[in-house]
Amino acid sequence: MKINENYLQLQDSYLFSTIAKKVVDYTKANKDAQVIRLGIGDVTRPLVPTVVKAMEKAVLEMGDALTFKGYGEEQGYAFLRQAVAVYYAKKNIFLDKDEIFISDGAKSDVGNLLDIMAKENTVLIPNPVYPVYVDTNIMQGRKIQYMNGNAQNNFLPLPDEKVSADIIYLCSPNNPTGAVYNKDQLKQWVDYALAQEAIILFDAAYEVFIGEDSLPSSIYQIPRAKECAIELCSLSKTAGFTGTRCGYTVVPKQLIRQGIQLNKLWLRRQTTKFNGVPYVVQRGAEAVFSAEGLEECSENIAYYMENASLIAQTLDELGIWYTGGRNAPYIWLKCPDGMSSWEYFDYLLENLSLVGTPGAGFGANGEGYFRLTAFGKREDVVEAMKRLKKSVDKK
Ligand code: MLT
Repeated sequence: MKINENYLQLQDSYLFSTIAKKVVDYTKANKDAQVIRLGIGDVTRPLVPTVVKAMEKAVLEMGDALTFKGYGEEQGYAFLRQAVAVYYAKKNIFLDKDEIFISDGAKSDVGNLLDIMAKENTVLIPNPVYPVYVDTNIMQGRKIQYMNGNAQNNFLPLPDEKVSADIIYLCSPNNPTGAVYNKDQLKQWVDYALAQEAIILFDAAYEVFIGEDSLPSSIYQIPRAKECAIELCSLSKTAGFTGTRCGYTVVPKQLIRQGIQLNKLWLRRQTTKFNGVPYVVQRGAEAVFSAEGLEECSENIAYYMENASLIAQTLDELGIWYTGGRNAPYIWLKCPDGMSSWEYFDYLLENLSLVGTPGAGFGANGEGYFRLTAFGKREDVVEAMKRLKKSVDKK
């Protein structure tokens, strides 16, 4: 048996596993340290009451012979796909429920979608960005081209007509920089993809954090995007589902390549390789989209965005350059004193017991930058900012 040698091209471990290991080593060596984690974007607010109630009810149904459910539809129960369709309709985006596929979160489908795309496709990936796009393509041996995000373009690279691509990844609001494409910029991407007959994989996992009405929260708000884009979304950050696992992927029926609807291929892939998200979780997810659920979740979003403001305020006071934190839960800052990303990571961990994410982990253009998440507990964010201010005052 021969291994998939593409795996040997990957870095030894996934970014967030490397960080977790460093933190474990640090806590072992410093038993009294009060470590504050603003690294991985993991939520801290619990599931909202409306979701908990719906899941409790679903558990009881599963324990009763009359309402028990075995295998469900691989693409998700119709009740949840309908709820997602209604959510989109409020944005004036009209989807057939067969265009919506329920997943266990955006991360899985980001990788799985590559199953229906040929190996010889050329991939265009922003740099810096969520490392899963790069790693999943390396695993399959695809040729990757990078588009540069930097302070000059506000970390929002735009299409370059001289570059040809088949698969384009966009993440807006962006992880890690928090940058958000406006409608005009997104239209440039849609026009480019249509001209190239390429496909955009649009990661909208952070759409709910967009506070400005003029900014697009779905690529389908751009004319003709259904002919060139697949949208991935997740309830992880929207509704605190990082541990519960549920998301959705939209594959429009108008998306046709070589005369074949990608929707059909994706359905074929899912029915073969996926048995769906648990019924109890899907009932919880349905409750997220109810009026009460949306209202309760929006309180949690406001809580995180208040954290983001506290972090931004501190960086303003300290004169540290940053972006993000306004329509996104991430703050992307320039490492002070010319430190590299990993030097600053070590400095914060060893001196302040504070964990963040080194920008270099998101690609070469992230070098010299650092990401803080707004998903922490309020008291931790306040304490972290106190430590940061004190450390600068001491210098
Ligand atoms: C992150 O910290 O970038 C996210 O938590 C990663 C993810 O959503 O998988």
